[in-house]
Amino acid sequence: MANEATNEAMGSYWMPFTGMRDFLDRPRLITAANGHYYTSEDGRQIYDCFSGLWTTGIGHCHPKIVERVQKQVAEMDYAIGFQMSSPDVFKLARKLCDMAPDGFEHVFFTNSGSESADTALKIALAYHRMTGQASRTRLIGRERGYHGVNFGGLSVGGMGHNRNMFSACLIPGVDHLPHTFNLSENAFTRGQPKWGTHLADELEKLCALHGADNIAAVIVEPVGGSTGILPPPVGYLKRLRELCTKHGILLIFDEVITAFGRIGSAFGAERFGVTPDIITTAKGLTNGVIPMGAVLVQDYIYKAFMDHSKTAIEFFHGYTYSGHPVATAAALASIEVYEEEGMFEQARALEKPFEDMLHSVADNSKVMDVRNFGMMGAIELHPRDGAPGARGMEVHKKCFWDENIVIRAGGDTLQFSPFLNSNPDELAKAIEAVERAINAIE
Ligand SMILES: Cc1ncc(COP(=O)(O)O)c(C=O)c1O
Repeated sequence: MANEATNEAMGSYWMPFTGMRDFLDRPRLITAANGHYYTSEDGRQIYDCFSGLWTTGIGHCHPKIVERVQKQVAEMDYAIGFQMSSPDVFKLARKLCDMAPDGFEHVFFTNSGSESADTALKIALAYHRMTGQASRTRLIGRERGYHGVNFGGLSVGGMGHNRNMFSACLIPGVDHLPHTFNLSENAFTRGQPKWGTHLADELEKLCALHGADNIAAVIVEPVGGSTGILPPPVGYLKRLRELCTKHGILLIFDEVITAFGRIGSAFGAERFGVTPDIITTAKGLTNGVIPMGAVLVQDYIYKAFMDHSKTAIEFFHGYTYSGHPVATAAALASIEVYEEEGMFEQARALEKPFEDMLHSVADNSKVMDVRNFGMMGAIELHPRDGAPGARGMEVHKKCFWDENIVIRAGGDTLQFSPFLNSNPDELAKAIEAVERAINAIE
């Protein structure tokens, strides 16, 4: 249904991270979702190999979550959240603290991963002021990092296309650690690469350059996600932790993707055995059903605000929808499902079969690299001469139209985020279909 009429009728909606000119030519529309499948507008069942947008690890429209959201919206659609609240969000905060590594005792709620990143950066900056270290204002992110699209997260993020237009307005005093992607050392690694641990030591150089007592925080994704799946080299996160501790710098893990079973545990911090000072999350918190994000902080951070704030409101920050009751209901129900159905354990058991399936395309002449960790995976294609990104997008479209599969393409990197409870046969067939699509394009 590609034509000008479509363009005119649909062009009012300016879509996120979407090539509008291309999309409107032949819109890919989904009208229903259930379990592991979408229904396309033309009535096809489409296997969702991306679990929503990293969001929906449990599967779509789980009856328990649907029921609780329906009940909540009928009982209390909204409750004011400034200077007042509703009881369940306190239960949710406690539950998240219980799921997190020791020491996390407080949660600030947001509506998205981007808001979580900016909230975490603000908490870090304010914490240092509260504790008499006002010189600690510099923030450190990482090349190829993704922390959403608000100005804080964008500034510490390291994805060129997202930043370039706004270069002059990004927040000052930000540095980036080098990314850990290296084809000559790490191509086709299964799980964590062995090479690259030393890249964490670059933080020492930044401390020497600026003075460690001018640095507030380092923020990294435990496993790079949107940048095309970059698992941390063995020992890398531990090394970062050691250096942050040594220099009094707060370590923030952006776990918007890696929490809630995506890498087989409640939080990536647990999986890697490395405890940061602050954790940000969103997506899987509500299984994607209602927008919600959260920032978990160590007890001493919260205490600093309570002990030292000179204003009645200790942290002048918040969102109209922080702790929204319907999102809270979705989160509590999702967590129950994660626990009752052993989702994280299921994801762990699927890791190895998923890894084998993904690496089965390694010999394909169009494939440049395959990477994976937990239930996150990437197949990176050689770019076509003079048209980087074209192959990735063509495979994405071919999968949707001809193979009835949703995958994501970031440039020429095909990204996979299968359900935590995937049926191995369905998943294997989906990856075979993706290889057919790779073969079918130029
Ligand atoms: C690690 C990470 N941080 C932040 C975000 C931004 O989340 P949102 O799109 O909900 O603002 C994302 C989104 O993919 C993410 O992967």
